[in-house]
This record gives sequence, C-alpha cells and structure tokens, in this order.
Amino acid sequence: MKDRIEELLNEIESFTASSKEHVEEFRIKLLSKKGKVKELFEEFKNVAPEMRKEVGQKLNELQNKAQDKINHLKETFEDLTDSKEANIDLTLPAEKITVGSRHPLSIVRNQIVEIFSRIGFTVSDGPEIEDDWHNFTALNTPADHPARDMQDTFYISENPDIVLRTQTSSVQVHIMEGSQPPIRTISPGRVYRNEAISARAHCQFHQVEGLYIDKKVSFADLKQTLLYFSKEMFGEETKIRLRPSYFPFTEISAEMDISCPFCKGDGCNICKGAGWVEILGCGMVDPAVLENCKIDSKQYSGFAFGMGIERIAMLKYQVKDLRLFSENDIRFLKQFKSVI
Ligand code: DAH
Repeated sequence: MKDRIEELLNEIESFTASSKEHVEEFRIKLLSKKGKVKELFEEFKNVAPEMRKEVGQKLNELQNKAQDKINHLKETFEDLTDSKEANIDLTLPAEKITVGSRHPLSIVRNQIVEIFSRIGFTVSDGPEIEDDWHNFTALNTPADHPARDMQDTFYISENPDIVLRTQTSSVQVHIMEGSQPPIRTISPGRVYRNEAISARAHCQFHQVEGLYIDKKVSFADLKQTLLYFSKEMFGEETKIRLRPSYFPFTEISAEMDISCPFCKGDGCNICKGAGWVEILGCGMVDPAVLENCKIDSKQYSGFAFGMGIERIAMLKYQVKDLRLFSENDIRFLKQFKSVI
C-alpha cells in the first residue's frame, strides 16, 4: 500500500493540465467517490494496526497534495479565463477600417489628364504667383486693355507686377518661351480671382489649360480634339456646339457647349431648358502671342482651350454649390469613389 501511495504522489507531482476539463478529469480520477485516493482510504481498514499511524499519515499527505494540486491548477485556468486576453471574442466582426477617398476635383483632374494623355498631350505646370507678363501682357492683354476687367486680379504686394494668376493660360507662355513646336500639353492648376464667394463663384478655383502648336494646326483639329474629350468625359452620345466669343489671346475665339448630360438635350433645370451647357473657352492662338513667345507665327499655328475643373465636376456629379469643394466636409467628400 505504501508503494501505491508513493506512486500516486509521484503522479500528482508530475501532472500537468492543458485545460480546466483536464484538471476536472484528474480530480475525478483521484478524489471522487470512486477515485484512487478514496479507494486507498477504503483499504486502510485492512492495514495492520502497527502500520496504521505511518500509512495513515501518508494517506492524509496524499489527499492534501492531491487537493492542493487540483486547487492550484483550477485557479490557474480560472485566472486565464478571467483575463482580458482570454475574453477576446474571435468571432466578433473586425472594426471597420475607414479608407480616405480622393477629392472630387482630383478625380476629375486625373480624368482630364488621362483623356488628353491618350492622344499625346503632356502635363505641364507653372507658378501660382505670377508676373504681369505671363498672366496678361504676353497673352495680348497689355495694361490698358479692357479685357483685364474680365478677371478681377489679386495683387499680392505693392508691386503691381506680381499677381496671383487669374488663369492657367499663363502656363502657355512659360511653355512656349521654353520650347519650340511641336507642343502638345495640358496644364491643370489653381487660379485666383477677386470675387465674392457664392454658390456659383469663388476667389480660388481650378482650371485646365490646353495648348497645341505645330505646323498647319487648324480649327478642325481643335473641334475634333474637344469632341473626343467631351465624349470621353460625358459619354459617347455627347454633342458639342461652338459659339463665337472673344479672348485676347485667341483669334478666332469660341465658347464650347456640350449637350446637357442630364436631359440629353431636351431641356431641364440643370441646363435651364436650353439643352446645352457651357464648359470651356477656346480658339486659335493669336499669332501675336506666338511672336511674344519667340515662336514663328508664319511657320506655326495652334489652338488653345481652358476649362474650369469645378465646372466639369459640378456637371458630372450634379453638385449645385461651388463652396462644397473647399469646405472639407467629410460627409460630402466621402461620396466620391475613384479608380484613378
Ligand atoms: N483663360 C480663359 C479664362 O480663364 C479660358 C480660356 C479661354 C483659355 C480660351 C484658353 C482659351 O486657352 O483659348 O476664362
């Protein structure tokens, strides 16, 4: 009997449990009514009287050790299940990850760039703080020219020569001064005008300028390029219409309408019943502008156009208030999804 007690003591000593249930199994095996320790207590009756004291002490020791070990293991597992880590519910859905989205004006700008780059236009850039020459004079708009009144200018210092550019047409001048034809480029960027802020006007907005200079560039090339752009931007069924207009840097000049993308030309409240909406200004680059930029106007001709990115975005997304684009209201911004 002493050997069996010894054996059980060793077993208790070396026992390790992998779970609460495992501990419970061990308890049943030793301490339940039919457990091994109980069994030994039963047999204790048969122990010779002279051995009783010794065996009895051993048996008590066994019972205590078994109980202590089981209590200790139980506590360990209870600690674990109480701890925060153990309470993590792995079946819960993960917290939603919010991904930022591109600004609608960036989406539209990227789309414009993408459409023109497919037909060989590069992208160019110029400064937002500009001198009078690039913003006005080289573009055929000298100081006393009435067309200056078309664009209320911000002067950023006492020096009337330094302005915030009022149009991305200024980039045309930089490009032509810095390179010789063929030139085929678009220039997206921010422009500034001293205008009261309202749903339809802002003191800062964005334009894309287009310029194409080469030998024998004609008005037909301009028309075809803009028709291609309009169909790509607003859909295959889009029609264009050119109306005579005036810009100092183009001769001849035109404004271009597209068939209303909402009513397809039938007339609706977006196009105010006209069936057409204006989207850009354009024309053949005035030979005087070519000469101002050291390009031989006898050899070369070209076309230019300029459009407002906000205007295109408002039409594409039916945005009715220009101010939304610069207020950074996340509820507005998160509605726009882009692939580019
Ligand atoms: N710069 C003009 C504006 O801001 C837009 C424009 C019209 C650009 C005709 C052009 C053009 O290049 O040919 O109103």
